Amino acid sequence: RANSIRHNIESNGNTLTVNIDDYDELKEAGGFKVIKEVTIGEITDSIIIVKKSDTEYLVYSSVCRHKKCNVKYKKDRDLFVCPCHGSTYDMSGKVIKGPSQGDIPKYHVKVNNNKLEISI
Ligand code: FES
Repeated sequence: RANSIRHNIESNGNTLTVNIDDYDELKEAGGFKVIKEVTIGEITDSIIIVKKSDTEYLVYSSVCRHKKCNVKYKKDRDLFVCPCHGSTYDMSGKVIKGPSQGDIPKYHVKVNNNKLEISI
């Protein structure tokens, strides 16, 4: 049973579907978008979507494991940096600079026309 959270996001079973066209931030490669408090399967999380190229998108939890600020994607360095205290994560989600001591989980993502199907 579809459970519509927002007009452009739908959580259905284990998959969160996001309509790419709804986000100007995802028009160009290198762009990213944080979407807060979405439901994926049985968990609620905030996510960061990175557009790596015209055909490749990556999705992670955006929640810094230090004190829960939302990380940003740094295109020039190809990594994530937390704006609060500078924790840094690589593109596998692994923390490479503290104070965070935990990694940010990466989600599976399938591109289906103009939609992203995100799952655990
Ligand atoms: Fe991210 Fe502190 S909350 S570094």
